Amino acid sequence: MNIAKKETTMATNEKTYTRFSASDRMEHLVLIVSFTMLGVTGLPQRYGEYELAKQFIDVLGGIESVRVMHRFFAVMLMAVSIYHGGAISYKLFVRRVRLSMIPSLKDIRDAWQYFLYNLGLHKEHPKMPRFNFGEKAEYLAVVWGTILMVITGFMLWNPVITARYVSGEVIPAARAAHSAEAFLAIAAIVIWHMYNVHIKRFNRSIFTGEISQEAMEEEHALELEEIERGYQYQPPPLEVMVRRQQAFTVYASIVTAILVGGLVYFVSLEDTAIETVPRQSFEQINDIDVTEGNASLGEIVWLEQECNLCHGDTGEGVYPVPPLAQTTSDPQAFAIAIRRGPADMPGYPVNQISDEEIAHLYVWLQSLE
Ligand code: HEC
Repeated sequence: MNIAKKETTMATNEKTYTRFSASDRMEHLVLIVSFTMLGVTGLPQRYGEYELAKQFIDVLGGIESVRVMHRFFAVMLMAVSIYHGGAISYKLFVRRVRLSMIPSLKDIRDAWQYFLYNLGLHKEHPKMPRFNFGEKAEYLAVVWGTILMVITGFMLWNPVITARYVSGEVIPAARAAHSAEAFLAIAAIVIWHMYNVHIKRFNRSIFTGEISQEAMEEEHALELEEIERGYQYQPPPLEVMVRRQQAFTVYASIVTAILVGGLVYFVSLEDTAIETVPRQSFEQINDIDVTEGNASLGEIVWLEQECNLCHGDTGEGVYPVPPLAQTTSDPQAFAIAIRRGPADMPGYPVNQISDEEIAHLYVWLQSLE
């Protein structure tokens, strides 16, 4: 640990302590951007059936662009996770500092004491270390949540490969887990994280790198005591450090190459990602001009597109598939049904059935006896 005590010349003239390095702060910024954007592009997919979500997807440029953005920020999150692994490894193997994020029994005691303290049943606020129980829990939730999101995200992104190794039912389960964990993570950030770092006390240390004396006394009293007793991280002699750094560079390059390779593999494996929101429901539906419709062509389209498989060769319909012969719906409603695909019927986007073909279908169905 390299906690340097230093006097500042801030207006408050309050003493501050260095808490986060530039690298830590950069990681957190990338995490904010990727996490937020994953939420922004993921939530409307989760709630795709609601009008508000649909409108929001349109604002973002349609479902296709939302999907691309979601994956872009997923890659960003995975990249920063790889970086984080490297940063921890550096602390562990080169600098050899204590890993202050690992939970211990003391955290449970602290949590309990804090609980009692808040109820007025304990006189003293617990004295907490560099990372207190709340911060550790949140950190572990991020680690665990990211692992879960990466695994389930992989399955949704590459369902064909996944189905080769696990039973197909795992994929809808992965989708449910991906969606539920996302909700949990967003709720945790909005409620728990915002409360702890903005409302309870506006703690800017992850941006400025510095934490106030007051915050140290309340949140990290144990760490503060250590600093005051003069405890400071003692780096090893230079040649030892250099030796470790060299070994680390070799090791880190190999692991990074493997992980980045894995990331590229993840991203480029297949382009069959499962759909969250049906693409065609966001398809533009143009006005249909039936005056140009041609009944004979309509029959060809009908058979070519295999509408007959469900609606019957002459549109007679078999319950629950409605009959379409002599349809009384107006051409626009007819087109919307074809583009969107109500209930069990698939939707047919423009690149599958053109507007003219819809007009042919309509005219043919009306011409039937
Ligand atoms: C997989 C079976 C299936 C196929 C294939 C299919 N449909 Fe349908 N279609 C249905 C079902 C089921 C409904 C009724 C949906 C509902 O309950 O709202 C329906 C409804 C419709 C409706 C709306 C009818 C109404 O009264 O609201 C239209 C129009 C229609 N289909 C046209 C077509 C055309 C044209 C094709 C071929 C391009 C086609 N369908 C292919 C199953 C199918």
